Amino acid sequence: MTIVQTVKRSKLFYVTTPIFYVNAAPHIGHLYSASIADCVYRYEKLRNRSEKLLFSTGTDEHGSKIQQAAIAHDQNPMQYCNQISECYKTLFAKSGISYTHFNRTTDKKRHFPAVQHFWKELEAKDYIYKANYAGWYCVSDETFLTESQLKENEKKEKVSAESGHPVKWVEESNYMFRLSKLHGDIEHWIKSSQPIRPKKFEKVLMEYLKEPLQDISISRPIDRVSWAIPTPNDNTQTVYVWLDALCNYLQSAGYPDPKFKENWPPQLQVIGKDILKFHGIYWPAFLIAAGLEPPVRLLVHSHWTVDDQKMSKSKNNVIDPNIVAEKYTYEGLRYFLLREGVPHSDGNYSSSKATRIINAELVNTLGNLLSRICAPALNKRQVVPKCTRKELHDFNYSHKLMKKLKQLPSVYEEHFESYNFYLAIDEIVATLHLTNNLIQESEPWKLVKYPATEQKLEAVLALVFESLRINGILLQPIVPMKAQKILDKINVSPDRRSWKDTEYQLDVEHEERPLHSSTSKLIDRIK
Ligand code: MSP
Repeated sequence: MTIVQTVKRSKLFYVTTPIFYVNAAPHIGHLYSASIADCVYRYEKLRNRSEKLLFSTGTDEHGSKIQQAAIAHDQNPMQYCNQISECYKTLFAKSGISYTHFNRTTDKKRHFPAVQHFWKELEAKDYIYKANYAGWYCVSDETFLTESQLKENEKKEKVSAESGHPVKWVEESNYMFRLSKLHGDIEHWIKSSQPIRPKKFEKVLMEYLKEPLQDISISRPIDRVSWAIPTPNDNTQTVYVWLDALCNYLQSAGYPDPKFKENWPPQLQVIGKDILKFHGIYWPAFLIAAGLEPPVRLLVHSHWTVDDQKMSKSKNNVIDPNIVAEKYTYEGLRYFLLREGVPHSDGNYSSSKATRIINAELVNTLGNLLSRICAPALNKRQVVPKCTRKELHDFNYSHKLMKKLKQLPSVYEEHFESYNFYLAIDEIVATLHLTNNLIQESEPWKLVKYPATEQKLEAVLALVFESLRINGILLQPIVPMKAQKILDKINVSPDRRSWKDTEYQLDVEHEERPLHSSTSKLIDRIK
């Protein structure tokens, strides 16, 4: 039996995505992180159980990788950051990512003061000290690594054992953070609050914690990333990009204005598995050191591979969402990512799989159902008719469908609360299949021919419309624009599209309503 895990109820629901590096244009992996967060945000909106909702995302614009990318594109760093950050905004607008805050770490007015204030808090609490640091530095991962975190590649070069990216020996003067002091606090947070989902990633964190934690370097000499945030009181150093970036979550809450506490901590932080250490160890450590609460929950997702290979520029297999959306539409792609991605293991992207799923589910099962029952050939009066229950008794599938529709919201809820969106979508698709089965069984194209079977036809149509209404409401977090199209077409008033409206309504007296006159298709068949 699945145990329903409810997100802590509060006045506030605050969800975040990681902020995205601007060293290259977005790919489907980035869109996946954002789609998950948006799906949860819209679900919370649908549930209407929090007074205030925040959804924060943005771009991470400091770091050596970005500097290198700007040089490679013959641009100055700021020009390059602006351009890629804009690519994210455009992609998110087209994909229905409905964030309330978009943070840029180069925002001097809002982000710099938040980071510098946070630094001073850590310093005041004696968590920062200066030291000469020597060690292996991985530019791609923006992190120092210990000998045990290294391996040799085929060319006998030292690389990070985890990411495979090259490292170089660096000796410099740095500010250090006393991470070693917080080992017990982090372990306690993980064990007592159980913040990590899925559970398998908790084990990964506990592995890290088997060894004592070392203090970490949290500044870099200014000549490394000249436009990064200077450390307060020492402008020869800049703030380490991960400390800088993590502060964006505080900034969206209003930090350093003391009122930010009304918006703290985030209920859910969506992250990919590659950045678990930064969010599951460094981040709670920084917060605890500053006297702040760590996040309520971290939802860790796995990665997308392409033909079972890691996506990378060098393999030339990076999937650009803007290109694939030309074929599938942005929402078609979003549907595929949420439908096929499972939190606990990597998903493999393939164009043939995407085509098959979108055609089978969005085009045939959903789109054809809607256009069929709205077509004047079957629906002469162009209405969502009233239902006469007794007229449905003869049809086996009407009983099955009614039962399913009554159970659907609670099953969907259970899957959403445990972040198994693909299982919630499974349930919707199964309900739509039953709805199509009812059509096959009742043969409305025959019923429409005779006045004697007119009432039967209307009863079948009413139940099919009821299925589309409930499924349309439940599809809002998954494919918001398509859900809106369905609900508009079948004339469900905008104030009747929330969680309580998912209750089956044909048992109570209801009015007939006209269909909306729009004729546009839900989605075209993918070739
Ligand atoms: N800038 C840091 C995050 C700082 S948050 C304080 C970063 N950026 S990123 O652009 O590299 O990654 C952002 C998100 O995209 C992460 O959640 C990461 O896991 C996700 N993905 C990157 N490649 C991915 C796949 N191939 N598949 C799925 N998600 C992937 O890390």
